[in-house]
Amino acid sequence: WRQRSELEKMADLPQELDDELTKLDKEFWISGSKLKDIVKYFRKELEEGLSKDKQNIPMNITWVHSLPSGKEKGTILTLDLGGTNLRVCKVTLHGDEAAGTRKHTLEQEQYTLPQSLKTGEADSLWTFVAEKVEDFVKSKGLDQEYSSDKPMPVGFTFSYPATQGRIDHAILQTWTKGFDIKGVEGEDVAQQLRKHLEARELPVELICVINDTVGAMVASAYTDPETIIGGIFGTGCNAAYMAHTSAIKKLDANDQRITDASRHNGTAAGDEKMAINCEYGAFDNAHRILPRTKFDEQIDTESPRPGEQTFEKLSAGLYLGEIFRLVLVDLLDRGLVFPSSQTQNTTALKQPYSIDTGLLSQIEDDESPSLTQTRNLLSDILSLQPTDADIELCRRLAEIIAVRGARLCACGVAAICLNEGIQAGHVAADGSVANKHPKFKKRWASALGEVLEWRGEVDPITITSAEDGSGVGCAIIGAMELERRGMVRD
Ligand code: GLC
Repeated sequence: WRQRSELEKMADLPQELDDELTKLDKEFWISGSKLKDIVKYFRKELEEGLSKDKQNIPMNITWVHSLPSGKEKGTILTLDLGGTNLRVCKVTLHGDEAAGTRKHTLEQEQYTLPQSLKTGEADSLWTFVAEKVEDFVKSKGLDQEYSSDKPMPVGFTFSYPATQGRIDHAILQTWTKGFDIKGVEGEDVAQQLRKHLEARELPVELICVINDTVGAMVASAYTDPETIIGGIFGTGCNAAYMAHTSAIKKLDANDQRITDASRHNGTAAGDEKMAINCEYGAFDNAHRILPRTKFDEQIDTESPRPGEQTFEKLSAGLYLGEIFRLVLVDLLDRGLVFPSSQTQNTTALKQPYSIDTGLLSQIEDDESPSLTQTRNLLSDILSLQPTDADIELCRRLAEIIAVRGARLCACGVAAICLNEGIQAGHVAADGSVANKHPKFKKRWASALGEVLEWRGEVDPITITSAEDGSGVGCAIIGAMELERRGMVRD
């Protein structure tokens, strides 16, 4: 059942624990042939999403008609609503003139998103965002530079599934990544934000709403023409690519905007493209192919949206730490780990989502001979007093869970490449798992090679670190949109 020897034993474990690990390893391991089966289903769901509205994988149309030329110019205010922060940037794109030097300049501020907002009301969310935009605009003197006649263009990176009838509209389909704010689903987030910005009489105009995957793809293509896909392997898991409009069956082929955009971009007739935000975190919500453990089922049941984002719940950063915690709690309840003594305090371990995926990265990064770093992490973060066996178990468990995540992450990209006939290029990746996990990229590449049956020395499709999608990428899309509207602003 296994063709790898990655899971080395560094220390002996009591037989009972060793058996448990072997069992877990089998449950979590996804073989090369299983990956291929998963990709088969994945391709079908991606295809269905392009054909009709309201399919399991939404394949959202974004109205981003092309990758950048590099000549984009202008100054844009960008907003990025992440899980922990709101980032506001002033981005200036210098266009071609600065070729060879920096193509953009950026000033930014980060504001911590209060936890309570994530499960609160729409009004509190937008009040918070508008207030921070006001702080930023005033502190940078942008209220002096811009006016209601000549407002500063704003781009908004909203990294949730949204239906976009236009680039400056975005109806939230469903919250993902643990967000559960009332009064936003089914509503146009652009309109909600606009209303709050207008109430403050700020000289700004929201011109585009984008997804983080599209931002990553565009920002990366700006400097790397080999970019084929923008992927986020972070709190959530998703990707975007440029699809031929003829393949997007649910798109009206006679839509004037496509013809206009292609004329504007100088695209040959029949070669028009559109960025598709797949939203493939929703893959296999019908539970037909992904092997789920009882821990995955528990995460789903206890999440704000059970039954949704099945693929994401097995592979993304928000959940990997929680899966790790649930396994440990199960072993603890059966008296197999963290033997009770005066000093053992399991309160933190029992707290849902108390383990961040960063811990798994740090454990796998630990090269100290006696795993001192892991011991310290378990005691600092979780107040546990681990034995040598507990530490060894945590090390192997962190690996089992992260390996499954990375191998699954390769399936989405493989499915896109197979459906689109993409044979080479760069997958511009962003997100905490891609950037901070020491072994993610290697494992991802190896799984992709297994699915696509690469035999050569050099991988034709490689993962690269994406450029700043929610800042620079969002600004580029804003600039392209302004240009398309024939109103370039410096
Ligand atoms: C979730 C969101 C998606 C986003 C991804 C990465 O899957 O639904 O919009 O791109 O997380 O942040």
